[in-house]
Amino acid sequence: MIFKRIICIFTIIVIALSSISCAPSKKSVFEEQAKSFFNEFTSEGVKATEVIEYSKQGSVAYRQPETEVEALDSELSVYYNKLVGYFFETEKTDANKLFITFEIYKPCDDIIGVEVISRELSEDGLSVEMKAPFNYNKMAVSGEEIPDDLKRLALIYARDALKTTHDAKALKEAEPKMLYTDKGVRVSYKDFENAVTVVPYEKLYYSLPESLKSKITPDSARAVDINKKMVALTFDDGPHGVYTDELLDILEKYNAVATFFEVGQNVDIAPEAIKRAYDMGCEIGSHSYSHANLKTSSADKIKSELDKTNEKLKAVTGEMPTLLRPPYGEVGSSLRDISEQYLIGWSVDTMDWKYRNADSVINYVKREKSLDGDVILMHSLYKSTVDAVEELVPWLIENDYQLVTITELMMLGEQDNFEKGVYYHFGN
Ligand code: NI
Repeated sequence: MIFKRIICIFTIIVIALSSISCAPSKKSVFEEQAKSFFNEFTSEGVKATEVIEYSKQGSVAYRQPETEVEALDSELSVYYNKLVGYFFETEKTDANKLFITFEIYKPCDDIIGVEVISRELSEDGLSVEMKAPFNYNKMAVSGEEIPDDLKRLALIYARDALKTTHDAKALKEAEPKMLYTDKGVRVSYKDFENAVTVVPYEKLYYSLPESLKSKITPDSARAVDINKKMVALTFDDGPHGVYTDELLDILEKYNAVATFFEVGQNVDIAPEAIKRAYDMGCEIGSHSYSHANLKTSSADKIKSELDKTNEKLKAVTGEMPTLLRPPYGEVGSSLRDISEQYLIGWSVDTMDWKYRNADSVINYVKREKSLDGDVILMHSLYKSTVDAVEELVPWLIENDYQLVTITELMMLGEQDNFEKGVYYHFGN
């Protein structure tokens, strides 16, 4: 009995002692939380002001960068003050906490990107995080830190990068946030927490501010200049065991791309040529499995023609083709309903399959007044077409055209409201 009582008293003492020695004060808990929040975000080697203030009426901890650019520093001060001001606008307890920190990027001497990250903890344990981008560009007037062309291009590529996880139309209407980072422009959206992507500077090369341009080599990715004329070459009915590679040799020589609409049952003739085209940045689309007329085919037949071809092409490139060129240009309502792909027409028909004569193809293309925005139809099956392309590719480049893929032409042109099952025509 006595023994039991001793244990009991001993236990009470232990509990009492531990609560005195181990229970940290609310102030030190807050300081620990602040430090670990600051450590979540990297800003090594950057001068910063650090403030940690515990109070029973709400606590605030922030790290504010000192960028040594007066305009940016004062803009950041205004924002930090605003966040703290909002926080204290309503009555607070010691459970209310506001943390603010930043990440900073300096892709070149004239450009700085700062992202301010704030996290507010409320009494019920809820945490709300906000991120705000601040861009500084020494050579730009305020409000134009990211030039309009660069914004437009970055948004186009961001929507393309996010298209498998987010609805492109919803993103187009959402409010974007952009930030200069070390590797590219980071695009995020106000109402889509997980829609974040960095568009590499290499892809944006022609729209970059001069100071940044001089730091980037465009050849690590094919960059498109949105202010230059664009034309898309397309080759149907392949792959061909010899000519597909010969076409690719020409494109490669001029750092150009094209779109190949392959017939499913031909894929095994030259799968490595398809892979080579894909790796070069060319686009691979479907042209049905057996070159069937998809307007007059039954729904079952259409479905099997499309599915089999998609599987074949995906096995080679690893990617599901998003484009379908219907054989003979024939499109009916069943195809529109069934197709999960964009139906792609053309605007310049060279009739290369009919005349099988290089000069007639060359003359046909050169006769057009303007080819800006045009899609030129050719076929992978003829030596005469290869010969024509050998002359046409350098001729187009000399005449200030960029050779782009169909998706690039659609994204960068006016037709960037992609809708599945819609038959797209091009040109004027
Ligand atoms: Ni065809």
